[in-house]
Amino acid sequence: MPFRHHPALRCPLDGLPMEWDSHSLRCPNKHSFDRARQGYCNLLSAQDKRSKDPGDSQPMIAARHRFLEAGHYYPVAEGIAQLLLPYVDSSRLVVDAGCGEGYYLNHLRDCVQAAGLSEPGILGFDISKWALQVAARRFPGTWLVASNRNIPLEDASADLVMDMFGFPDFPSFSRVLKSSGLLLRVQTGHEHLRELRELIYPQLKAQRPASDIPKGFTLRERAALTFKTADLDQEVIADLLLMTPHFFRASAEGRARVAAVSSLAVTVDVSLTLLQRD
Ligand SMILES: C[S@@+](CC[C@H](N)C(=O)[O-])C[C@H]1O[C@@H](n2cnc3c(N)ncnc32)[C@H](O)[C@@H]1O
Repeated sequence: MPFRHHPALRCPLDGLPMEWDSHSLRCPNKHSFDRARQGYCNLLSAQDKRSKDPGDSQPMIAARHRFLEAGHYYPVAEGIAQLLLPYVDSSRLVVDAGCGEGYYLNHLRDCVQAAGLSEPGILGFDISKWALQVAARRFPGTWLVASNRNIPLEDASADLVMDMFGFPDFPSFSRVLKSSGLLLRVQTGHEHLRELRELIYPQLKAQRPASDIPKGFTLRERAALTFKTADLDQEVIADLLLMTPHFFRASAEGRARVAAVSSLAVTVDVSLTLLQRD
């Protein structure tokens, strides 16, 4: 897909504005970032990497892509889109921080179009290049490999930042948001994937409570979304496990118990918190 330049983009190395010359982004100091074949630019600098291949791996992204495209989390995507639609129009810049393979941003864009609204600026970034290889194929947008720790955007340029099941960096979100800009947080609730967790762990630990309102933000809206999926077959359960942190936390026995199950319906329990930058 074609890459969409946005004037708020800043060089990750020196913070200067960048120009787009139809195949690369370039700053006045001649730092240059080529567009990848799939339609994203990699703006992740060496100092923003904590490993050689940061973020979700290729198999994790592929599993999440198969799972989400099959519609198992459709009510979550729909809940997010309906919450955000009133705040989205063509003058806005919407940023998905840790966009993964782009499912939620894609659904929001579909809903904007279906509602006859004009499309906002849409920017999705993730630290995983594997995620962007999938996301950037979805629609022409400003797709970047980048880190929450160093978002390559001008200060006070974004109207809405989405942090969905991500690794938030609130000072960075605050920096790039306009005054009174919005931050959507989507977090897992106490009952989330209870049936899967019961298989993995001998004793269920209490889920972390949704965190408090971060400094510099005020609560605007909060909603909870709980539903049970249809029965998922073994391949889908394997994808679900692989796309969650439980894959790494589970013991060999826990994974074996999951692998032995032929069908499982799981509870999805998430909270949507809309915060406003002070
Ligand atoms: C649980 S996944 C959620 C992905 C997507 N938001 C979704 O809900 O489908 C977390 C994502 O955060 C990304 N990630 C991890 N650390 C990050 C960072 N420092 N900056 C940006 N993305 C990061 C991972 O690569 C992964 O795609």
